[in-house]
Amino acid sequence: MFAKFFSYFIPINVHKKNSAISNTLEVTWNNGELVLDSKNTNYSYGSLQRILRKGLKYIGFERIKKFEDILILGVAGGSVIKTIVDEIKFKGKITGIEIDAQVVEIANKYFKLNEIKNLELVVDDAFEFVLKTKEKYDLIVIDIFQDTKMPNFLFEDYFINHVNSLLKINGFILFNTMVIYEKDRIRNVDYKKKFGGNYSLRMYPKVENHNELFTIKKLK
Ligand SMILES: C[S@@+](CC[C@H](N)C(=O)[O-])C[C@H]1O[C@@H](n2cnc3c(N)ncnc32)[C@H](O)[C@@H]1O
Repeated sequence: MFAKFFSYFIPINVHKKNSAISNTLEVTWNNGELVLDSKNTNYSYGSLQRILRKGLKYIGFERIKKFEDILILGVAGGSVIKTIVDEIKFKGKITGIEIDAQVVEIANKYFKLNEIKNLELVVDDAFEFVLKTKEKYDLIVIDIFQDTKMPNFLFEDYFINHVNSLLKINGFILFNTMVIYEKDRIRNVDYKKKFGGNYSLRMYPKVENHNELFTIKKLK
């Protein structure tokens, strides 16, 4: 616990590894909290956890507690899963999809995701997984980054339509995006236009500076 104490004065790195997906993966004690970062951004815990918690609040903790099936695309250290389990006290089934096996190793070793009974972690590409799965979900969290980059497939009709088809009626998508350049802002405006009258979409700009969150409810 020395590392935790000293981290209030200076960040203390406890794990650093190269990753094909994220460049580097670093686990660091920072201000008394263990966080996971890629080369250029915070992946889990820290600001990222606050951002997704806000998104879950917009949907409503009480509503989420009553859900049965939750899908997380992009797990990293699992901070949104911790919020769902520890704060919302969700008891249903959580399925987490993470492309990087090294990330899953870190998530289990440092953040103890393997101790969460109602979580199934799958090492797979989220793009592939949504084509294969036969399940339907009440909540789908999309939080996919390769370092600071968001893969293009996230904004393409093919993926969007498949994700929508996995959603139960009255189910929600929570989509975390980063907006740094004008092209990102335009990309998000275009994304918004892809949802017609069967969906209720809300956009929450400037969540912790650069993040823009979407909540999308399937109405029928
Ligand atoms: C910002 S982190 C996710 C944070 C996590 N939602 C949390 O609550 O702590 C982004 C993650 O997406 C993963 N990722 C990137 N591309 C992916 C893909 N195609 N399929 C699944 N996961 C992917 C990265 O390896 C990284 O772990």
